[in-house]
Amino acid sequence: MQTIDNIPALREKIRHLRKQGLRIAFVPTMGNLHQGHISLVEKARTLADIVVVSIFVNPMQFGVNEDIDNYPRTMAADQEKLQASGCDLLFTPTPNIIYPKGIDKQSYVEVPNVSSGYCGESRPGHFRGVATVVCKLFNIVQPDLACFGLKDYQQVQVIQTMVEDLSMPIEIVPVETVREASGLALSSRNSYLSAEQKQIAPALNKNMRWLAQAIQSSNDFVGLAKQAAQFIDDAGLKTDYLHICHARTLQPASEDDKELVILAAAYCGKARLIDNLRVNLP
Ligand code: PAJ
Repeated sequence: MQTIDNIPALREKIRHLRKQGLRIAFVPTMGNLHQGHISLVEKARTLADIVVVSIFVNPMQFGVNEDIDNYPRTMAADQEKLQASGCDLLFTPTPNIIYPKGIDKQSYVEVPNVSSGYCGESRPGHFRGVATVVCKLFNIVQPDLACFGLKDYQQVQVIQTMVEDLSMPIEIVPVETVREASGLALSSRNSYLSAEQKQIAPALNKNMRWLAQAIQSSNDFVGLAKQAAQFIDDAGLKTDYLHICHARTLQPASEDDKELVILAAAYCGKARLIDNLRVNLP
């Protein structure tokens, strides 16, 4: 595995690979890698000749009140994991390489509709930052396909919509969420949890599964979602939002929608956990 930290060297390398007719898969990350990230690399490995991973803690997607400086950075361990999982090329730019003018003085990508609501509402500007950095990384890496985790369901919809709307010639491959045996979705933020909090954190997924079951026999989506949120709070978490939505548009589900997704975020201490569950009604 080769690690490259600047754009000209990466472009040169990609040009060389493309000349040989090789198919390139891309997995963008912010590092502090766990098995969730690695499952994306393994999926990418099965779909292409060359796997490129980026590690870049993107300042544009963090809010002013979000602590980017304390985001866990574990480059040496990440490199070892990537090497072992079949990554060919690791791109590790710094903020001044990606944003030489600063994040406030450059062009950006705004994806309407799917970006509003849920995490878009709780984290203003977040999806603009995600779409902009992913667009830049796509232009730098020029992959044939890119893998994204369904754990960040709204993010996948934002990226898929961006690629469609802006005619980007890149296939987006969604990859299932990797979970602990308790049902808790793996996340870099889980490292903020104390042993005690780790015991109660699975209540988020557990009650979402309860809700998925409950809506099989009742279409009181709003009432049942409220009840599930109460159960989550009763377990010691603090629900940020919990909604039953149309799986593609992310609009609140209407009574006769069949392809649904439950989207939720909850605080466990200072860690904000997100999760989602797709539900198909008969
Ligand atoms: P990050 O949180 O590092 O996640 C990188 C990728 O790993 C995302 O596609 C995310 O959905 C996926 N992922 C995280 N946890 C997962 C899990 N438990 N199971 C499966 N996949 C999982 O998401 C970002 O970074 C950034 O927003 C980024 C897209 C890199 C843009 O900066």
